[in-house]
Amino acid sequence: MNITIGSDHGAVALKDEVKMVLKEYEDIKVTDVGTFGTESVDYPDIAEKVCADVTSGKADFGIVLCGTGIGISIAANKVKGIRCALCNDVYSAKKAREHNNANVLAMGGRVLGFGPAGEIVRAFVESSFEGGRHERRVNKVMAIEQK
Ligand code: RB5
Repeated sequence: MNITIGSDHGAVALKDEVKMVLKEYEDIKVTDVGTFGTESVDYPDIAEKVCADVTSGKADFGIVLCGTGIGISIAANKVKGIRCALCNDVYSAKKAREHNNANVLAMGGRVLGFGPAGEIVRAFVESSFEGGRHERRVNKVMAIEQK
């Protein structure tokens, strides 16, 4: 599984922590598109980079991080083909995959501690889309992009 991760300056430490968590999985390869320092950057630029890897197929999933996770999740969801879920708890992360077939996970570096964030990431990568009635709903969500 290939995962592309990116954050603005508000979540660089969380990005490093998430990368450490993903090292637990032998089958996961991570691409980090930055940012790498404390200098202020604009979260839409990071969202676009991560989402480009997902929509091109280079990455199976994306992880986007900013201070709250809100701005970068809004930006990610403007990209056609992206279903980004902002998750602050494990249950939401599990359901984001099972019911919403989310292909991008968003979290906030100024909201979540490293422990809870790690559990959210594990829940996201270990859960799978259930299909069935959820597929119909996800298809309707994606059809909105074409209107
Ligand atoms: C940057 O200061 C901050 O606005 C950003 O990280 C994020 O929280 C926006 O939603």
